[in-house]
Amino acid sequence: MSDYETLLIERHDAVTLVRLNRPQALNALNAQVLTDLIAAFAAYDADPEQRCLVLTGSEKAFAAGADIKEMQPNGFSHNYATNFFAGWEQVTATRKPWIAAVAGFALGGGCELAMMADFILAADTAKFGQPEIKLGVAPGMGGSQRLTRAVGKAKAMEMCLTGRMMGADEAERASLVARIVPAADLIEEALKSAAAIAAMAPLAAIANKEMVNAAFETGLAMGIVFERRLFAGLTATEDKTEGMTAFVEKRPGVWSGR
Ligand code: CAA
Repeated sequence: MSDYETLLIERHDAVTLVRLNRPQALNALNAQVLTDLIAAFAAYDADPEQRCLVLTGSEKAFAAGADIKEMQPNGFSHNYATNFFAGWEQVTATRKPWIAAVAGFALGGGCELAMMADFILAADTAKFGQPEIKLGVAPGMGGSQRLTRAVGKAKAMEMCLTGRMMGADEAERASLVARIVPAADLIEEALKSAAAIAAMAPLAAIANKEMVNAAFETGLAMGIVFERRLFAGLTATEDKTEGMTAFVEKRPGVWSGR
């Protein structure tokens, strides 16, 4: 039972597990998937009981890209007028942490969606690629920018220009993914990571995410100023008092989220 046409949602205590569910199209990302993901991520962000989210696909495909059949009739006027793909910014606006758990194909928009996550946990079957050039186009959901920042110019350029896929081992060596796990353990491992994050003080989780993301948007000196300010801000929270008191008293912290 799900409120969403293209997603399956499970709650695992404080962790939301979202499965892309268009198996007939290898989870290709059509307009309905975007609508559903925006709603699911907004619901997660707004729910104080939910502290981390895992987004996954199927064993065969995380997502095989934007939906080519849906895009086929659309030309420049449509795509420019509708600011096509801009809606994905609402997914990247999620303030609380989320993980992409990737098995099988993560191609085009699928790779780009995975790269929107705070980090990627990859099954040993994962294959990443930006094959849009083979369709006569180029990435449109941030791939040319996020892939280049993740793996550097040489690999990003080669992947975009040739459309070649990168396997899980290479993706880990290139720092595209945080960790590789056996495919059979992917969901369990992702939920374990997410549960660890969910057990942290909620405001600290948001602040840690904001700081690391700031490293992509600012120079080093301004990034460090941002970090220091946010660190100082966290010291005004009840959870800072609780966290440090709990350490001194040799007990786990009990977070209020304030
Ligand atoms: N859009 C729409 N449908 C897709 C799709 C996509 N991106 N990828 C796969 N499908 C559909 C196929 O058309 C097929 O449907 P039918 O049975 O109705 O024909 C079904 O999913 C199963 O796919 P295949 O039979 O092709 O499966 P395969 O195992 O032989 O191949 C694959 C798997 C290599 C991933 C192949 O499906 C493929 O190359 N897919 C397209 C990958 C791609 O080009 N992605 C980039 C899309 S453009 C984009 O994402 C733009 C952007 O920057 C946002």
